[in-house]
Parts: sequence; C-alpha cells; structure tokens
Amino acid sequence: MNFTDTSHLTSLPEALRESVRMVERSREDRLARTLRGETFPALSISDRKAWLNDFHPDQREDGKRPLVVGPGKGSHVPCEMADLLESRPRVSLNNLLKDTSLSKKADIVTDVLIIGGGGAGTAAAIAAAEAGVKVFVATKLRHGDSNTIMAEGGMQVADQECDSPVQHYLDVLGGGHFTNNPELVQALVTDGADVLHWLEELGMLFDKYPTGRMKVRHGGGTSRKRLHAAGDVTGLEMMRVIRDRAEALENITVSAFTPAVELLTDDDGRAVGAVLEQLTGGEPLIVHAKSVIITTGGMGRLHLNKFPTSNHFGATADGLVMAYRAGVPLQDLHSCQYHPTGIAYPERKIGLLITEKFRGLGAPFLNRFGDEFVFGLEPRDVTTAAIIRECQMMNNGVRTPSGGVGVWLDIPLIDLIHGRGTIEKEFPGRFKEFLGKGIDLRQLPLLAYPTLHYQNGGMVIGSNGGTDMPGLFAAGEVTGGVHGHNRLMGNALLEILVFGLRAGKTAAQFAQTTTLSNSPGLSHLSAFLEELEQENCNKEIIGPQLLPKYFP
Ligand code: SIN
Repeated sequence: MNFTDTSHLTSLPEALRESVRMVERSREDRLARTLRGETFPALSISDRKAWLNDFHPDQREDGKRPLVVGPGKGSHVPCEMADLLESRPRVSLNNLLKDTSLSKKADIVTDVLIIGGGGAGTAAAIAAAEAGVKVFVATKLRHGDSNTIMAEGGMQVADQECDSPVQHYLDVLGGGHFTNNPELVQALVTDGADVLHWLEELGMLFDKYPTGRMKVRHGGGTSRKRLHAAGDVTGLEMMRVIRDRAEALENITVSAFTPAVELLTDDDGRAVGAVLEQLTGGEPLIVHAKSVIITTGGMGRLHLNKFPTSNHFGATADGLVMAYRAGVPLQDLHSCQYHPTGIAYPERKIGLLITEKFRGLGAPFLNRFGDEFVFGLEPRDVTTAAIIRECQMMNNGVRTPSGGVGVWLDIPLIDLIHGRGTIEKEFPGRFKEFLGKGIDLRQLPLLAYPTLHYQNGGMVIGSNGGTDMPGLFAAGEVTGGVHGHNRLMGNALLEILVFGLRAGKTAAQFAQTTTLSNSPGLSHLSAFLEELEQENCNKEIIGPQLLPKYFP
C-alpha cells in the first residue's frame, strides 16, 4: 500500500484519519498472519465469564427493576420493559372496557388470527392456510415490515457433510450458556434442512458456487460453517418469497396498519380473538377467532439502557404487553442481545447493523492504534463485552466528532484475503449504501459499537408454539427459551420459520377441533387493572406502545 496517498481519506473527518492510517499500517502484518491460518486467540472460559460480568449491558443492575404485578411479579427486567408490562390500556379501549362481553361485536370472524406480519407471522399464516383453515393476519405496518427484513447475514442450517443437527444443537446450547430450553433447540435444528429445502422451492436466491453448491460461512460461536445467505440482504430475500407464497393462498387475509392492542379471552380462559386499532383512523375492530398466534417480534425500539438499535420501527414489545396482561408467563426478559457491530460513524446511521458476515469472511476488530483486541467470532455477547471493555476500561476506542466511540472493523482486509470483488459481491447492500455516502468499504474500515439487536427472552412456549393459555400460540422473537441467554448469528431466521410453521399448523389443528367462543371479552384486563391500581402503578404509561417514543 502507498502510505503517502491519502486521497481515499478525504470523506472522513480529520479526527478519524490518523487512526485509520494506523489501521492501514498494521494491515499487511495481519494479512500475512491470516494467510498462514493464524487467528487472534479465543478467550479462556474464565475470561469470558469475567468480561461478560463486568461489561455486558445485561449485567447493569441500574437498568432493571422488579415487576410488581402479573405472572412475572418479583422478577427483575429492564426498566423500559417493566414500565410497558405494567402500563394502562390504550385510550381507544375506554368504551370497550365498559362492555366486557364483546360477543355480538365481531367485525371480523376467522379460524386463526395471527398478530404480526413479519417472518414468523407469514410462515404461520402459510402453514395454517395450507392446513385448510381461514387465516386473518393483523399487522401493525405493511405486510413484511419487521426485523426479518432487516436481517442481513444468514440462516444457520446444518446441511454440509461435515456437519449435523447434533453439532448444531451443541453449538446453540453452548452459545446460550446452557440456559436454553433443550426441547426447543431440538425442534430448531431438526427442522433446519426441511426449511432450507422449502425456501429453495419457493425460489429464494441463496449464495451458491457455479456448481450449484450452497456457499456456507462461519458465524460467531459456531463449530462449523453453516450460515446460508443471500448477499447481505438474506431476511429481505426470505420475506420476498414467503410473502409471495402467502399472497397466493386465497384463505389468507392480511390487514395492514391494524395492530392488535388487546387479546380477547373467554369464560374458559381461552384466547378467542383480539381488539385491533386502526392506525389510519376509525373505531377499533373486534376479531373473533378459534385460535390466536402472536408473532409481534422484539423490543429494540424501547432503546434499553439508552442504546441505539438495529431494529425495525415496529419493534416495541406489543405482543409481550398483551400476553402479560392476559396472564401468560414470560421468561428471561432480563437477557437481551447487543449486536457487536452497530454503525458508530457516520452519525446519521448510528445503531444500524453491520452484519457479522463481515467477520465470518475475516474482518477483524481493531482499536484506535490499529491493534486487534478480541477474536472476532467469539459468541456475540462476549464480543460485545470485549468492545465495551476496550472502549471504557482500556480507553482504546476511537472518538467520533459527535463524542461517540467505536472500534474499527477492518473490512478492506476481506478483498486481500479472498480476492478483489469479494466485498462488492458478498455485501451488495451495505457496499452500495456506503459508497453513496462517500465511504468505499474496499478502502476504508468501518467504525462500530454494540447496538440493541434482539430480545433473547419472551413468551414461554412448547415445541409446537403452544402457550399456557388454551388457543394461544406464539413464534419468533416474541418467544423465549430457544436461544437461552445468548443467540448465535443466523438462528433467528431459522427460528421464525421453524416455529412459525409449527405454530401455524398446530393453531390450525386447534381451530379445526373447536367452535367460536360465545363469551369473548376483556375480563382478564379488568383483573389486571385492579392489580395495577392496588400497586399504585404509573397511570401515565400507555401500552402497547406501537411506535417508538420519538414518533409524533
Ligand atoms: C447479522 O447479520 O449479523 C445479523 C443476523 C442475526 O442476528 O442473526
């Protein structure tokens, strides 16, 4: 490299340039080591534990408080989540609350009601419709607007000769620090190959070699290469094909801009429908259903611990709020995933995702001196803790012009390892996006810092998506147990399809063996409101929140 030519640095502010020069000076040495097959040493188990304990945001006690009402009473959860779980219903329900018997008021009658139109909801709709029942999908924004379409790097499936579902199972348990529900992990890895095959049949364009063989990559914390990707827009491509399939099925109706704001339950304690708010105006809609599936996704837009997020604008924990009020148990809400590489610069993009696939192809983490400080493919929570440690304790982070901090991800090394053109080909989305902002990822490292990415905990489910409440099912990020306290990359895209399909099929079977309830109502809500009164909970907080607080 010609170190006197600095023309490629002109798009960066002065404050960052000297540090980039140090990254460039250490690059050749790192390339030589990579080509010799040497990697930065992984942390010992005891260091991993210590770094997690000292630096992972989940460990911050000041960010949590105990719940004072509901089935999780006494458990410590993030304050922003606790406030919502103990919030008051939305104002638009005031009139409905006076009439707890809503049996005559159905605007929509269906067999299966699905709340949420992202990846899990769409998969559930397909499975239920293919089982022969009538399906109604109520989605907050447009069909497909969700964390699924934001997922970049890939989906884990153990389909290679050197791999097996057993190996995958062990990786998932290890990555989750053995806090996962083994029955759910078994379901996840067992259905993997079928899901991959299904997506191929639907026309999903996976990355392949000219021979037709799937390209697979390493994710953090995995013992085998099993990440299947579509460039760096894997979730978007997945949603393209499953949404097409859903649209082709005549017994699926999708209702956009109509988020569910309350479940309906009946005198037998069964889930029998929901109340929908119409974002475009009008009275709430009442849906009567024989079974209900919650697939509302995560909570990144609550910005726990004031972190930025990689999440879609709709990720506001709505499903958790509705389920909790209805008495459905939640688990592991204290455990969230902070993805190691959110964008730290340019400032306008703070928190958006830089996929782990960059590290899977060899981009290392470097501090402001251009020195590597952690093996880039540690499990995600460990990598995140290591970055926070490097910036906060070691004071080795790179300061941005607006006072933020980050570490470098040395992306140009990828082309030097794998050949020119690799970055453009493997990361078409981010490559073009940054080029448009004057940052050429073939030449410049990117500044990264952890971003709130995923909700590890959620509704307690069984392996077919069933919950404690008869007639109520759930799938995807709104549920807990699959990943334990730490999800490995690429297991979310697999999870939404495995459990979406399972929940859809089981909810359809349930609907086929039951009749519509004749006592749908909101009595569970009245009981919950009484508890809130008794505990003198804040009357100002309204839930579900539906949109981030900074939306008008
Ligand atoms: C990524 O591409 O790094 C995110 C995908 C995931 O969280 O599994």
